Amino acid sequence: MQPVKKAMNGTFISFEGIDGAGKSTHIDRLAQSFRAQGRVVTLTREPGGTPLAEQLRQMVLNDPMDAMTEALLVFAARRDHIRQVIVPALARSEVVLCDRFTDATFAYQGAGRGFEWQTLLVLESWVQAHPDQPDRLVQPDLTLWFDLPASIAAQRLAGARVPDKFESQPQAFFEKVASGYAQRLAADPTRFARIHADQTPAAVWNDVEQAVRSKGFLPC
Ligand code: TMP
Repeated sequence: MQPVKKAMNGTFISFEGIDGAGKSTHIDRLAQSFRAQGRVVTLTREPGGTPLAEQLRQMVLNDPMDAMTEALLVFAARRDHIRQVIVPALARSEVVLCDRFTDATFAYQGAGRGFEWQTLLVLESWVQAHPDQPDRLVQPDLTLWFDLPASIAAQRLAGARVPDKFESQPQAFFEKVASGYAQRLAADPTRFARIHADQTPAAVWNDVEQAVRSKGFLPC
């Protein structure tokens, strides 16, 4: 299936990376840049973004469960999020900035927890079928992958707020998660921009802006 681009006039950007990679401040800053251009921005996240999906998020982040249950819950949350928030915002020509999307499922449930990649591909094709064009997938126009060595992320996370189920995983888990992101990038390199997150915040921001500009989403 092809990602939906022409059918939706908005701009859909997702932000990915292992826990501690430092996406948050850059998401807010990018929202400001788009607003300065007169664009309406929908800031959202996964799992979450709707009342139902936020309830599912609490379960996924806090309750023990097997990898398939986790995958089904995040995809259920995503289905609701796509239909209630993402597709309507794109149809209004807004910018949707989403803190994590489907690549996180492949990275965390697939590579991290060992759930079958092929089954995730099937779930992706079901859940992300566009409501108005079922043969096309709702997929970000650009995915910014904040790539940070797991050892550095672990240092950043140490002493931070009380860790959730994923944040408390050992470094080896995050090395597998990072390999999952690399696999997703290899499968769809034009959608991804790999941001080297082990730099000063100013240098990271520079790379983020550059990636967004090179797609033509912000003026040069
Ligand atoms: P965050 O919003 O603080 O980044 O936390 C979300 C957590 O949920 C993070 O550890 C990654 C995890 N996650 C999955 O395991 N699968 C998914 O599909 C998504 C979107 C997130």
